[in-house]
Amino acid sequence: MKKFLIAGNWKMNKTVAEAVAFAEEIKAKGLRNPEEVVVLAPFTQISALNAALEGSGISVGAQNVHFEQSGAFTGEISVGMLKELEVAYCIVGHSERREYFGETDRTVNMKLKTLLEAGITPILCVGEDINVREARGEQTFVAGQIIADFEGIPASEVSKIVIAYEPIWAIGTGKTATPDQAEEMCAFIRGVIGGIYDNNTADNTLILYGGSMKPGNAAELLAKRDINGGLIGGASLQADDLAAIADAAADLKAD
Ligand code: PGA
Repeated sequence: MKKFLIAGNWKMNKTVAEAVAFAEEIKAKGLRNPEEVVVLAPFTQISALNAALEGSGISVGAQNVHFEQSGAFTGEISVGMLKELEVAYCIVGHSERREYFGETDRTVNMKLKTLLEAGITPILCVGEDINVREARGEQTFVAGQIIADFEGIPASEVSKIVIAYEPIWAIGTGKTATPDQAEEMCAFIRGVIGGIYDNNTADNTLILYGGSMKPGNAAELLAKRDINGGLIGGASLQADDLAAIADAAADLKAD
């Protein structure tokens, strides 16, 4: 049966009180597959969210981590600090971090290794911008990111990494990739993983789509063969919307 991961990326939103209120709301929905849902929250909310979601099956994750274990990195958060808060997932290389905070494939690669060593599941983001897409360079671009980001990571670790394909032109723009465009790239990414490693590893790797996913378009995106879920920004801020997307995934499993 297909495995899904419905991951809400809250970005820089919500106070602790708002996060706890969200937790109460989503718990009340009685999700059918809560273990396939994760909320990726700002650091300040993680502790309270984990407490509020305890026993619900829903996981809590972070949006970033430093690749070093400790040291003189003012303003950064280490993997040990995330482990202490029982963080299950952590986003790596989101396009906003690549664009605004100087994240490179090299730092992404180091962060992936740091998280794997700590037993936290990375959610690695890749995806092209509109110029690359218009020049039809998206496959070359994304393959380049995958090859660089997975450098030195052994096959046995690969399926512990979740990959999220997020075309930058679809993030926060309301302009979703069509289900066929999303599927084409997710299948391509699976092929790249199969090429670097092997088909079994590729088949066992979760590949998500992200970029303006919402209740109205989730079902047709999630129905695609190579799409194992979503990384959802704007629509994850409302418990109703995130629950509706999780429901769409649960419906597909029940079919
Ligand atoms: P969006 O964001 O759903 O608001 O487009 C997705 C993301 O950036 O992860």
